Amino acid sequence: MTIQLVTKKAGPAISKYIYGHFAEHLGRCIYEGLYVGKDSEIPNVNGMRTDVVEALKNIKIPVLRWPGGCFADEYHWKDGIGAKENRKMMVNTHWGGVTEDNSFGTHEFFELVRQLGCEAYVNGNVGSGTVQEMQEWVEYITMGGISPMAEERRKNGQEEPWKMKFFGVGNENWGCGGNMRAEYYADEYRRYQTYVRQYGDEKIYKIAGGANVDDYHWTETLMKNAHWMMDGLSLHYYVHPHGWEEKGSATDFTEEDWYLTCDKAAYMDELVTRHGTIMDKYDPEKRIGMIVDEWGTWFTAEPGTNPGFLYQQNTIRDAMVAAITLNIFHKHADRVHMANIAQTVNVLQAMILTDGAKMVKTPSYHVFDLYKDHQDANRVDGFGDMPEHVTYTASQKDNSLTLSLTNFDLKETAELAFALDQGAKVVSARGLVGTEMNAYNDFDHPETVTIQEFADFKQTAESLQVSLPPMSVITFKLELV
Ligand code: AHR
Repeated sequence: MTIQLVTKKAGPAISKYIYGHFAEHLGRCIYEGLYVGKDSEIPNVNGMRTDVVEALKNIKIPVLRWPGGCFADEYHWKDGIGAKENRKMMVNTHWGGVTEDNSFGTHEFFELVRQLGCEAYVNGNVGSGTVQEMQEWVEYITMGGISPMAEERRKNGQEEPWKMKFFGVGNENWGCGGNMRAEYYADEYRRYQTYVRQYGDEKIYKIAGGANVDDYHWTETLMKNAHWMMDGLSLHYYVHPHGWEEKGSATDFTEEDWYLTCDKAAYMDELVTRHGTIMDKYDPEKRIGMIVDEWGTWFTAEPGTNPGFLYQQNTIRDAMVAAITLNIFHKHADRVHMANIAQTVNVLQAMILTDGAKMVKTPSYHVFDLYKDHQDANRVDGFGDMPEHVTYTASQKDNSLTLSLTNFDLKETAELAFALDQGAKVVSARGLVGTEMNAYNDFDHPETVTIQEFADFKQTAESLQVSLPPMSVITFKLELV
């Protein structure tokens, strides 16, 4: 089977924000995972774990969404500023009923973003917060001149305003964010977003809370009633092989579960296509971004952990889900402007797991590493049929072509050939190859699934021939000549 790759006609740019992340006050994501406090024995800079920050910088994290999720819609930002000892506590009702001491707040988030060198995506509270509270938060963060909130920020030690590129007006307002009907939320969105003022030079990219999975009525209603007031509209979709009620184990699963999981990941294509078709009706130029700000696998929490903390292991199956999904986002790069996998550390399909001072990179992390050169590159389209369990994506930046291939078949090697419309030379070939379908990394075996050199290919003048092993994600770098 030969796939013809067309490098001479550049496809749409793949926004780097598709490689975004999400960190909620949930379980051990913020506390322990990202933030340990200045006095911790775990190496840190201003309280942020050095090992985790370095690992995230290595995959070029472009944007971080915070503080939720469901937590965002009961978060009152003023509780998280000022002297830590005076910060008001709250109960994190969604996530384990634990006491939140608010020691990680706005200043800490922007410090984290500074260290990561990424953009900030702050999610505001519509469900239980007031319009004034949201307006003042935006003023506190972005106002450079004299104003009550800017003065308050200075009193708390931050002279200059921060840069906040993205702002979400509510989260899951059809559920934990207030159980609203689409019609009601559309009106609330219009009202709240009015007061998300622009204090600095940079326009804030406003994101409306979008649909759950296949709720096309939600997308239709939001687009019809508010499309001209938004820059982005979100979509949330999680993969559970057996549905919400019986999520199944992250590590103990059958072959049937494997394929169900991969097929459910592939369902993202239909979701993006159908929500996108509705968006096209109101926004044919595709100005408004589809923002898939929660996606990934959601399995039953690991035995012995707090079920409200959503801590799960991450296997080569999760790597398949990451690759399948990223390929779909590339396919829809003209509409999908940002995506944020849930969640960065210790929660759901995490990049990183921690245990005290120990840290391990998951198979999903390695996919983000293998894919990082696709960020802000132009998609390269290919023509030709693929075997049933193979998916691929390609992109081009300057004279460099990145080709990523995934074979989620459990047994069969796929024999593939790629032809190019110009000369090219393979510079590197690296990837993940599963040895068992539930292979994973833990603190004692951190490199069971890790990036290896890949040699099972042959380049001729006409094509690149690849024997793609089962359970693999391989990325080729080619120099175009
Ligand atoms: O990511 C976990 C939760 O999933 C988020 O808080 C919520 O928005 C979604 O239901």
